Amino acid sequence: MRKIAIIGGTGVENPEKFPNFVEKIIETPYGQAKCKIGELNGNQVVFLSRHGVDHGIAPHKINYRANMWALKSLGTEEIFATTAVGSLNPEMKAGHFVVCDNALDFTKSRINTFYDTPERGVVHVDFTQPYCPRIRAKVIRCLEKMDVTFHKTGVYVCTEGPRFETAAEIKAYAMLGGDLVGMTSIPESLLAREAEMCYANCSIVTNMAAGISPTPLSHSEVVGAMAKSIETMGTLIDMFLADNEPVDIICGCPEALKEFGGFKL
Ligand code: HPA
Repeated sequence: MRKIAIIGGTGVENPEKFPNFVEKIIETPYGQAKCKIGELNGNQVVFLSRHGVDHGIAPHKINYRANMWALKSLGTEEIFATTAVGSLNPEMKAGHFVVCDNALDFTKSRINTFYDTPERGVVHVDFTQPYCPRIRAKVIRCLEKMDVTFHKTGVYVCTEGPRFETAAEIKAYAMLGGDLVGMTSIPESLLAREAEMCYANCSIVTNMAAGISPTPLSHSEVVGAMAKSIETMGTLIDMFLADNEPVDIICGCPEALKEFGGFKL
């Protein structure tokens, strides 16, 4: 049995694809997390809406630690997370799917570790590859069977938000090697790594980034573009949940904290 979590980002808040799932409030040392839990294709599946079911939680206010702790406490081993992103890369256009392979962290105010108290001690986790290569390979295998334009790699620039970026910031991020810009992948992916869960991100490009887009950015543009891709994302999620064949890659995620005695709830 695979133990999978789907984290739905903007536009993937409350997919009707899990009608028989049971809603559960999970208590964690960091607060509560709301999940939907069920079984599909012989696997345990947990669905978590990152921004809350009605998009009420801003990116910098998301309780990332409660969410990731809750997923870990439910036994989650693999996480498939969706995000809406702007694009800095002319090859990556609105409606394209991107299986991100690296990230640049420009967040400012977020608590980005489970290890910030004397009781839990200090850890320094390897984050060379912020997204699990094994789960990425599985997502890519699913996308290859679908009729969608996608990119197998992409560098996700995580900004603090909730404002969109300035044109100068976007220019700088592009010079640094960024392809996409969003507000949520960090610290989510980082906490997944500390908690020794495999985590992949599939981003959907909703707009060209600030200064590249000919028009000012708006949240309604992002939501409107996501709405166009929601059905395809639903198919991808279905395929990912049904793909029980292993891939030929071994990752280090389940032993990410081996040096420190492993992650403890
Ligand atoms: N910037 C930041 N986050 C986003 C964007 C953007 O252009 N589009 C969708 N999420």
